[in-house]
Amino acid sequence: MTKVAGSAIMAAVVSIAAAACSTTTTPECAISEPAGSRGHGLRARRAEVGIAISPFAIDTSHMSRDEELRVGLGSYIANATSDCGGCHSSPAGFLAGGTPFNVDASGHVVYARNLTTDPTTGLRMTQAELRAVIRTGKDLHQDRTKQLVVMPWPIFRWMGDADIDALYAYLRTVPAVANDVPVGNKDGLALPASTPFPGYYNDGDLERPLPPNRSSFDPARGLAIAPLATPPELHCDTRSDYALGSYIANSMADCEGCHTHPDRTPAFKINTSAYLLGGTVFDVPPPVQPVVGQVRSMSVNLKGEVHGFFNEPEDSFARFKAIITTGTHADELPPRPLGWPMTIIAANLSNLIDEDLESVYTYVKHAPSISGALDQERQSYARYCVADASCNAGESCALATSECVGSACGSELDCDACQTCTNGVCTAPVATSACLAGTTAAAVAAIARRSWRGQVTAVLPVQRH
Ligand code: HEC
Ligand code: HEC
Repeated sequence: MTKVAGSAIMAAVVSIAAAACSTTTTPECAISEPAGSRGHGLRARRAEVGIAISPFAIDTSHMSRDEELRVGLGSYIANATSDCGGCHSSPAGFLAGGTPFNVDASGHVVYARNLTTDPTTGLRMTQAELRAVIRTGKDLHQDRTKQLVVMPWPIFRWMGDADIDALYAYLRTVPAVANDVPVGNKDGLALPASTPFPGYYNDGDLERPLPPNRSSFDPARGLAIAPLATPPELHCDTRSDYALGSYIANSMADCEGCHTHPDRTPAFKINTSAYLLGGTVFDVPPPVQPVVGQVRSMSVNLKGEVHGFFNEPEDSFARFKAIITTGTHADELPPRPLGWPMTIIAANLSNLIDEDLESVYTYVKHAPSISGALDQERQSYARYCVADASCNAGESCALATSECVGSACGSELDCDACQTCTNGVCTAPVATSACLAGTTAAAVAAIARRSWRGQVTAVLPVQRH
């Protein structure tokens, strides 16, 4: 970890920015300036998309223009960049909570909370309280002695106030659903009551001051919250897209939460040595298995120098966009559906306005690549079956785990997620498989955060109106 006093960093950032931008005078170069007219135009378009994609019709008739923008933006964050519904929606209703998440195998469990406007079982907090909960992980309602787990507040905490307040404004419009969420069990987990917000960025390799907390989707904030050093060689236009993409990826979309394994160090910082190298295993919840045709998936290596998806020669924004918007491996013939839970994430991300999706691409593309032993190719998902006939010719169905096995292999990479290549044949993992268990992390909090979305036991189809 490199630790430098804030002012020294600021000086470094400023001088790097000056050096990188000295060859051009385009206005996009001034990343630290508050978003100008371009920023306002993007804000209006995000809000418009937000209103259109909300699973319930937002009644804007009584709203001022400013309120409408705020609510629309909140919906854009909840339903496009951050996928609140992926965890908080359930058969009870949109954002009505109740979905259990097993924190570990010893009975610790939490339930996604009811975020609707129901006065007794819904989100009961002021705007200031929501900011505090998102910034610190404080649990105001169930166990006040232990911070929230599974809930990705360690990422969301880097959002600016304007965006958290937009989320709040949107949540205040969500139809009330009475759903009393069970109290979770975090007994014995060594968790603090909350984690104070440091006021500067300290989640990655560098500590950096945060810019003034004014504008929505602030690229300057994006530059401050990138876990790895900003590549100095970026041209100004690329750099401003990189900055916006970093804001979306590192405060909202949480790519690293699934694509870094394990995603946190024992000190609860982002595990930058494995940043975006993939390998997190996701169990597909049993009710979802027949629907998606998968039992288990593994996140893809995005940033390995040799094996990273974004370093493949055929990489392009067009390919990335096709994968996200179709929810398939659009570059394969025939295109296989994406693995769980990237399917849900892709459906959300496909709502992003083009500038935002391209910025996310630019960020991941230009984030430093990682080389070395952790840069490995990852296995593709294990396919669900009920009988041999549901598998490919030459395979059979391992009934204990409902997955296709038995194809010939030269190494594990020829087999599906967590399967082994035993005597030249792909074999289902045994119950004690280290792959299934993941690696043991020292920090309970890190364990609690890992593989969360893999535990989702219910999904609501995302409805458009
Ligand atoms: C990965 C799953 C997941 C995602 C994504 C997620 N949450 Fe949560 N959230 C949870 C869980 C689980 C809890 C309860 C945690 C606990 O009990 O420790 C929770 C708790 C909360 C709470 C505390 C509520 C209370 O009553 O005190 C708020 C507020 C909240 N989430 C808001 C959000 C918002 C807003 C988003 C989207 C920006 C979001 N969550 C996205 C899983 C998630
Ligand atoms: C909830 C967990 C989760 C989140 C969040 C997530 N991913 Fe994924 N992603 C996965 C998994 C699992 C796969 C593997 C899917 C498969 O096998 O088809 C995947 C696959 C991908 C692929 C396909 C790669 C290929 O080889 O075709 C891309 C690209 C990708 N993710 C990019 C991203 C980006 C960029 C973000 C953040 C904006 C992100 N992901 C966020 C879990 C996630």
